[in-house]
Amino acid sequence: MLKEQDYREAAGFVGGRIPLGAEIGVVLGSGLGAFAEQLDHPVRVKYSEIPHAPKATNTSHKGELVYGEAAGKKVIVLSGRVHGYEGYPLADTAFYIRLLFLLGVKTVILTNAAGGVAPELSVGDFLCLSDHLYFFDDSPVKGPHLPLFGERFFDMSNAYDKELRWLALSVMEEQGLPAQEGVYAYMPGPQFETPAEIRALRLLGADAVGMSTVAEAIAAAQCGMKTLGISCISNPAAGISLKPLSDRDVNEVAVQRSAAFIELLRGILSRL
Ligand code: HPA
Repeated sequence: MLKEQDYREAAGFVGGRIPLGAEIGVVLGSGLGAFAEQLDHPVRVKYSEIPHAPKATNTSHKGELVYGEAAGKKVIVLSGRVHGYEGYPLADTAFYIRLLFLLGVKTVILTNAAGGVAPELSVGDFLCLSDHLYFFDDSPVKGPHLPLFGERFFDMSNAYDKELRWLALSVMEEQGLPAQEGVYAYMPGPQFETPAEIRALRLLGADAVGMSTVAEAIAAAQCGMKTLGISCISNPAAGISLKPLSDRDVNEVAVQRSAAFIELLRGILSRL
């Protein structure tokens, strides 16, 4: 279990390598890494160099933090994240969010590839997250209370910031994308869900399903950062189509949608 001092050391190390002043963080999900390759004035720090940092083991995640500029805004991009299914305690999946907080980030954009649970979602759509369901894992902020990161008990009713959602939906509309928002259900993986699990999640109010993001949104809420969540719908969730689910298909769709996704992110950043 990391202590406040460990996080401070990590932030001190990264802060010594990148320019100051970025108030926006972006976490890139599976197959969506291209955004980090197109930043102006990039400065890269590998996760493996950062003291106390958990390392990304999913090969579709690059595992580096990139400072740079996009749409005229200074951003810190996390190209790759760690997941509970890699064997990390959920607290580790929140590590990079806490790092962003200590580096001065106030707004974080969380992105992911997700399965579509709502029947009206099509493969390749973007979904703005309005809320989440999180039943099957530990809290990422469980354990000894670290006051540096906020109160022990904290509100989650605006975890996906309402103003940011409005902004994202209006950019989607401007760009001719379906402007849709919905609830993201976390499942721990790494196995994809069963059709019965997806039917149950639908009854509970889920529109999309995935294995990331939620721990980060919780850690961000505790620190008082504003969060925007965007899913790229990479497949119909289990049982909705007859095709067996595969990680390769998930990544392929995310990569195919990269250009549109980057345009969407840039549109959002330009209005922040
Ligand atoms: N389920 C869980 N995680 C996912 C999926 C899915 O269908 N697609 C992309 N990530």
